[in-house]
Amino acid sequence: KKVVLAYSGGLDTSIILKWLIETYQCEVVAFAADLGQGEDLSGIEEKALKTGAVKARVEDLKEEFVRDFVFPAFRANVIYEGQYLLGTSIARPLIAKKQVEIAREEGADAVSHGATGKGNDQVRFELTYMALDPSLKVIAPWREWNLKSRKALLDFAHRHGIPVPVTKEKPYSCDANLLHISYEGGILEDPWNEPDPSMFTLTVDPEKAPDKPETIEIDFERGDPVAVNGERLSPAALLARLNEIGGRNGVGRADVVESRFVGMKSRGVYETPGGTILRIAHRAMESITMDREVMFLRDSLIPQYAKLIYNGFWYAPERVALQSLIDTSQQTVSGTVRVKVYKGHCMVTGRKSDQSLYDPDMATFEEDDVYEQSDATGFIRLQGLRLRILSLIRERRKKS
Ligand code: ARG
Ligand code: SIN
Repeated sequence: KKVVLAYSGGLDTSIILKWLIETYQCEVVAFAADLGQGEDLSGIEEKALKTGAVKARVEDLKEEFVRDFVFPAFRANVIYEGQYLLGTSIARPLIAKKQVEIAREEGADAVSHGATGKGNDQVRFELTYMALDPSLKVIAPWREWNLKSRKALLDFAHRHGIPVPVTKEKPYSCDANLLHISYEGGILEDPWNEPDPSMFTLTVDPEKAPDKPETIEIDFERGDPVAVNGERLSPAALLARLNEIGGRNGVGRADVVESRFVGMKSRGVYETPGGTILRIAHRAMESITMDREVMFLRDSLIPQYAKLIYNGFWYAPERVALQSLIDTSQQTVSGTVRVKVYKGHCMVTGRKSDQSLYDPDMATFEEDDVYEQSDATGFIRLQGLRLRILSLIRERRKKS
């Protein structure tokens, strides 16, 4: 029996590694994904082997993450409950997909993750396993073991010689990648508590950001950003660049209460500097390149698309079907957008495109051959027919 564990090198997944071996007498392959979380992953293989893994694998998934997950979602201007840019939600299916691939390569028959039984992440991992390889057994230690308290966990660690970091534990749980960092739990559980300013890592406090605005030009091709200030960059490098610029100007903080798939509300604080800039710039690109009715239809689908990602249905057929509609809508979304970032804000100041639908001659409607002002009379009369009938009938009823 062999299990592929999604391993972070932290205390919890180290305990899980040992617990799997002890409980299932299995071999464990530890897999760590580099999604640009900014942690040093160099010692992680050695650490996993020391904790008892038969093999440890670290995979650099940064480009795949941004190209095949973040950008497709951002083509839709995706946002959950109007506030959350889905930084964690969009990363889980990729980690789980890689786990399934590794399970095949290593001849494993089971996969395991460190998500608790109360959250969204467990659903996202497991729906992906099921969609990609239903034959794999899934082990979710948090739902199985009797290590119910922090103390029980620490005791287990001590008993098994798992080093417990001496530094005081962070008073909240974090999840980071190239798109965002999230903070949840601990002192944040009271939604009235303001986060401590020292918690933030990707952005400066907007109040302390530079007094001078910074201007950025972003080039798009078919809905995806390809260059910043004229410099062509790979997807991961581009997002990293926008993170730097947004970060030093305090852009992209969000303090939200969101509805988890499993039922409860939960408070989360997020930093998504590059993603926030990207979403604003992408909308501006669409504003001159996208047909009105296509935009209306696509916009009506944003909440559904966001919900699919949030709930873990990335590999479900309805998400794939929606994606093809979204991708079709992006065929003309190419050009350049200029934004200004300043003390936590990101403002559009210009847009241009070879595909532009904006024509100054038509907007000003001087004498021309496409727009005949007298056409508007009949257009409005017929649009208003229903309203006139309604009003006339009410009048008649009042009189009788
Ligand atoms: N609430 C966010 C989401 O569901 C973030 C979850 C963070 N996960 C974590 N393991 N810390 O997408
Ligand atoms: C967890 O419970 O593992 C993290 C929070 C979440 O998945 O929503």
